[in-house]
Amino acid sequence: MTDQTAALVADRELGSPAGRSTDRYPADPGPLDDLERRFGRLYSRQRLGIEEDHEARMAAPHRRSLRLRRWYRSPALVRRTLKLTGLYWWASRNAGRIQVRRHPIHLPALPAAFDGFTILQLSDLHVDISPAAMNRLAELLPQLNYDLCVLTGDYRGKTYGPCKATIEGMARIRANICGPVYAVLGNHDSLRMVPAFEEMNIRMLVNEAEPLMRDGQLLYLAGIDDAHFYRVDNIEKTALQIPHGALSILLSHTPEIYRQAAHAGFNLLLSGHTHGGQICLPGAIPLTLDSALPRRMGAGSWRYGRMTGYTSVGVGSSIVPARINCPPEITLHELRAAEGPAPSVRALAQVEGVEHTRQHQLAGKKNGHADRNIGDRQRQWAHTGEQRQQ
Ligand SMILES: [Fe+2]
Repeated sequence: MTDQTAALVADRELGSPAGRSTDRYPADPGPLDDLERRFGRLYSRQRLGIEEDHEARMAAPHRRSLRLRRWYRSPALVRRTLKLTGLYWWASRNAGRIQVRRHPIHLPALPAAFDGFTILQLSDLHVDISPAAMNRLAELLPQLNYDLCVLTGDYRGKTYGPCKATIEGMARIRANICGPVYAVLGNHDSLRMVPAFEEMNIRMLVNEAEPLMRDGQLLYLAGIDDAHFYRVDNIEKTALQIPHGALSILLSHTPEIYRQAAHAGFNLLLSGHTHGGQICLPGAIPLTLDSALPRRMGAGSWRYGRMTGYTSVGVGSSIVPARINCPPEITLHELRAAEGPAPSVRALAQVEGVEHTRQHQLAGKKNGHADRNIGDRQRQWAHTGEQRQQ
């Protein structure tokens, strides 16, 4: 992170005097201008406005009284309950015992060049409150082979407050990831993290799609903003950036948008958010998934219509760093060609002149150093961001 970016993050830290202006949009809105240029004025103001409302609500203790149905969101209560039952230290140790899951995905009409293509998925890192898991992750990452890494949201521990520790933790994780990294925001994340993430070569997909090219063949990687709390996801805008019939992968923090994703024609949905329940009964039965979706979609692989889905149980932990009957995971998805017709059911009109200048040339070599031109690519992102519709 450059000094300039660090200063930007510090200046705009939610909860800091500079960031808590009484004006919704401060008089010196330089970084906000950048976000508006990058993502459009309406979206940016919605996202940042809801963030400020949430921040204000959480800063007022009388307005965040514990509701019975949300008892499990109280760190003190969860910690005390685990200690009373004698499970706390065992559950804390479990939180650092990351499993590496290998998950083959058979996709009809997968371009031949992507047969065997491996995607490393890291979800729900919650880096600033999951020290044991982050230390173990740093040990595991150099041992893995993959072509591309995707991050499916929830980098911050809390849903509000400072972002500095999160960004510093993410910089340490990023240093252990080879090759290109794409990411989406979760319900714990602030839009203000985006400049710092992109500074460390993490390409944020905020209701955007980007073509990936390998040996002259294409597939599309798309990402939407959080659909769980902020609800500023825009699948329609995202899907319209993908040509009809192209194989497409959608990153969404929450799998709750499975119906919209499937009927927009996405072939694969990678998500997280549920933590698989995090505290589960024997048999990995979650007490809660904090999501509106069928339980079968709460963890691991599933299908809906012609779309394949995968819900990661996450690397880090939420509320307290503790897990029971639900070990943390990092996932290696290996794409495999399957027999059958092209699964795309996208009935949307193909956007004319899909922007191929941003397409990402991927080397055939795993864990390879396809990232040599990452600085140029970042400049391209900034350039194309300026051209996006406001
Ligand atoms: Fe999470």
